[in-house]
Amino acid sequence: MTGSLNVVVGITGGIAAYKAVGVIRSFVLAGHRVQVVATTGALRFVGRPTLEAISRNPVHTELYEGVAEVRHVAIGQAADLIVIAPATANTIAKLAAGLADDLLGNTVLASTAPVVLAPAMHTEMWQNPATQANIATLRSRGVTVVGPASGQLTGTDSGPGRMEEPDAIVDAALAAVSGETARTPGDLDGCAIVITAGGTREPLDPVRFLGNRSSGKQGVALATAAAQRGAAVTLIASHLDVPAPNGVTVIDAPSAAELQAAVTDAAPRADIVIMAAAVSDYRPAEVQESKIKKEDAGDELLLRLVKNPDILAGLAHNARPDQTIVGFAAETAHGDDELIRIGRAKLARKGCDFLVVNRVGWNEGFARDTNSVVMLARGGTIALTESGDKLAVAERILDILLAERR
Ligand code: CTP
Repeated sequence: MTGSLNVVVGITGGIAAYKAVGVIRSFVLAGHRVQVVATTGALRFVGRPTLEAISRNPVHTELYEGVAEVRHVAIGQAADLIVIAPATANTIAKLAAGLADDLLGNTVLASTAPVVLAPAMHTEMWQNPATQANIATLRSRGVTVVGPASGQLTGTDSGPGRMEEPDAIVDAALAAVSGETARTPGDLDGCAIVITAGGTREPLDPVRFLGNRSSGKQGVALATAAAQRGAAVTLIASHLDVPAPNGVTVIDAPSAAELQAAVTDAAPRADIVIMAAAVSDYRPAEVQESKIKKEDAGDELLLRLVKNPDILAGLAHNARPDQTIVGFAAETAHGDDELIRIGRAKLARKGCDFLVVNRVGWNEGFARDTNSVVMLARGGTIALTESGDKLAVAERILDILLAERR
């Protein structure tokens, strides 16, 4: 995007409000005009003179100031871009509900400009289903959400909830104006997507299983994002640690065999199949009818395992030409080069259209809310590298799939 923009920087009442100064400064130095709309809460954290000096304009706070110039709508109508940094849980809830009880709410409602939010709050508040539902609502209306990043928070705690760094917010905001990341709610209308998520468990006896550490969060994030964008989603779920989103068809598939049966049944009706589930490569050769007892097994118990079928390779092999088949691979690689090398070999072996590769380890990858992925396209080219919360990663993966199908 070239040219000078009218940027509204909304600041709400959180400790990260001091970092909004950096956001304003970046826009001003890049030649854009900035109007600051601060809530009264924000001004407890950062001083009006600082904001006025850096933005080179008066700071707006009051709904009932400047009534003669109809300020409550004028600022929004003149905006080319609205960036709210930090966006508190309270503001996010108010925006999702369309409330207009302060100047910022009025400004957003009166504007047709792209809206970019940089949430900042404690991890528990960010992960609260109410906040997540509000974020999902706002995303479905085309609002761009940048961050939050993971790291040290205001107190001694750390986790997702830190406001993204000012430069990242400004970059994402300018990209949203230029349409690079602006997404149309409904851009997956009419698209049928089958997504597997979670980790299969292979029964050993009536009380034991062989399993893995997959939480299903990335697969659920894909299902959430795809459904919000209008896709008809079938989620084949294997022991999810998180609830399945509303508006998708959920089929439980506890073991690899059940997952294979469910996905084989659903795939013919799908435009896209995404195998995000961690499928057990092996299962016990025999499943005991009753609990294995120590007195029978003795000091050493040997398990004989047999290989499960490779579901992804089968789907890729039988795919229609108009179908897109996507695999995932979690690898314990040392560094990005090795990760990509392993990913390329696996992509070729599986024969799928895309492979989303991420690194895992004892303290990496599984069960977290953030992910860092490299998405390889057929032939091994890198289609995407993305880090962030799993929903943001899901959105970008869907962007790539949509672009490829178009
Ligand atoms: N997968 C599958 N069927 C299996 C095993 C895996 O469909 N029996 C799928 C997974 O859902 C994932 C992809 O294949 O999309 C890669 O899984 P991964 O376990 O990394 O692949 P493997 O071929 O089992 O390779 P490795 O030997 O590295 O485990």
